[in-house]
Amino acid sequence: PRLAVLASGRGSNLQAILDAIDDGRLHAQVAGVFGDKPAAFALARARAAGIPARALRPRDFAGRDEFDAALFAEVASVRPDVVVCAGYMRLLGAAALAPWAGRIINIHPSLLPDFKGLDTHARALAAGVPEHGASVHFVTADLDGGPVIAQARVPVLDGDDADALAARVLDTEHPLLVASLQLLCAGRIVLRDEVVELDGKLL
Ligand code: GRF
Repeated sequence: PRLAVLASGRGSNLQAILDAIDDGRLHAQVAGVFGDKPAAFALARARAAGIPARALRPRDFAGRDEFDAALFAEVASVRPDVVVCAGYMRLLGAAALAPWAGRIINIHPSLLPDFKGLDTHARALAAGVPEHGASVHFVTADLDGGPVIAQARVPVLDGDDADALAARVLDTEHPLLVASLQLLCAGRIVLRDEVVELDGKLL
């Protein structure tokens, strides 16, 4: 399968995908990397790997719908089977998402449905939860609210600050995203009637 990756930042999850493909652990191809921040390190990683990378700037567009339409025109141009949001930090509107239903996933640094949105690690610490983690889910217009595919858990430890907790979660994100993509790319994970099926059974 062909993947398009959306990223706004450092791109360590993108790198995990590229490394898994290089190692033969993930049978897929990254056809393009797209984003909203021209200076994002994720784009440099893509170019270093010989992958087309393009960022559009939101301020060059009249509004979110116009930006999303232009971004997804770029995405569609590389004919992906699956779109992966890997640290893509902008909301995506319903109109842009509609054609990709069941074919677009996101990795989010919390145990959804807890801590949707930003600053998840600081909020998990403030809430005093004993466990935190990461989730891979199908993207819908409901922010971080789409059906969950897989989660990884980590303990919250005494003395953790947000950075320490974020680092522990990030270590689990990379294998979690690769494992989710292995299932998705093998056709074993399917979104049917808004629920996730694994090997034809409800997850
Ligand atoms: C990750 O924590 C991801 O879950 C969140 O943003 C971060 C991106 O990290 N959505 P990277 O750009 O993949 O290194």
